[in-house]
Amino acid sequence: MRIRILGSGAGGGFPQWNCNCANCRAVRAGKPGFTARTQSSLAASADGVNWVLLNASPDLREQIAATPELAPAQGDPVRASPIKAVVLTNGDVDHIAGLLNLREAQPFGVYAARRVLNVLQTNRIFDILQPALVSRAELAMDAGMPLTGAGVDLAMSVKAFAVPGKIALYLEDKNAANFGTAAGDTLGLEITDHKSGKSFFYIPGCAQVEPALADRLRGAALVFFDGTLWRENEMIDQGLMGKTGSRMGHVNMSGADGSIAAFAPLDVARKIFVHINNSNPTLDAGSKERAEANAAGWTIGEDGMEIAL
Ligand code: MLT
Ligand code: MN
Ligand code: ZN
Repeated sequence: MRIRILGSGAGGGFPQWNCNCANCRAVRAGKPGFTARTQSSLAASADGVNWVLLNASPDLREQIAATPELAPAQGDPVRASPIKAVVLTNGDVDHIAGLLNLREAQPFGVYAARRVLNVLQTNRIFDILQPALVSRAELAMDAGMPLTGAGVDLAMSVKAFAVPGKIALYLEDKNAANFGTAAGDTLGLEITDHKSGKSFFYIPGCAQVEPALADRLRGAALVFFDGTLWRENEMIDQGLMGKTGSRMGHVNMSGADGSIAAFAPLDVARKIFVHINNSNPTLDAGSKERAEANAAGWTIGEDGMEIAL
């Protein structure tokens, strides 16, 4: 199985259009150690020909352009795409807006939780993906589902599971508990290659590494995990936004209850942070925080990084 990071940045990407923080200034200036990142998405393929996208970011057009495998191949019909399916982990803008880039009457399959399918159904702009061509399937929880799309069997399956998180920002209800979040608003995915039986986990948003999640990930070959913030208050401290990491539904990398500490005893062979926010100090390759994450066995994900499993 081939797995490629299309976008390793969080919502807004790196640099973010209206952000003048130290990291965004440095990457705009081309300072050594800083690399631009598009928004959160992965692609996976069992045969190197047909691909599934895990989330569809607003930067999808640029991501396809940077990935020849995702363009029509020589000898394909005049309209063709190797993208046969898209699996969504939540309803946030950074994970669903790229569906709009996939218009032009191309068949593929969309997989999402019921509440995210409801978002697509109630926002008529998504009708641009013609129901007769683009199938929408509800993800079963904790059960493997074979991935298919456009009549193609991708020879991989997806197992979705609920992780602690938050409802999409634009759906927040200020008067409801946890802003109206319901179980399944944030999903983790396990993708398994049918031939080799190997699998990896993709969890770009997660508010807490609770015991059930830790048990699930123990001994995994490869995990892509929520790397939004280094510390709880970094956006407040940098004057960017009045929100903590937990308020945004993201566990921090550092600290006693952070992801680095939570993964330390889990014996995960390969750990890669994705969905990295522009405020995160690990975006500076020369930072002490980057060194600390690397020393704990973590890779800071970059666009275009490819892993074979
Ligand atoms: C998040 O990950 O917290 C969201 O992408 C925020 C947003 O939608 O802007
Ligand atoms: Mn996001
Ligand atoms: Zn910034």
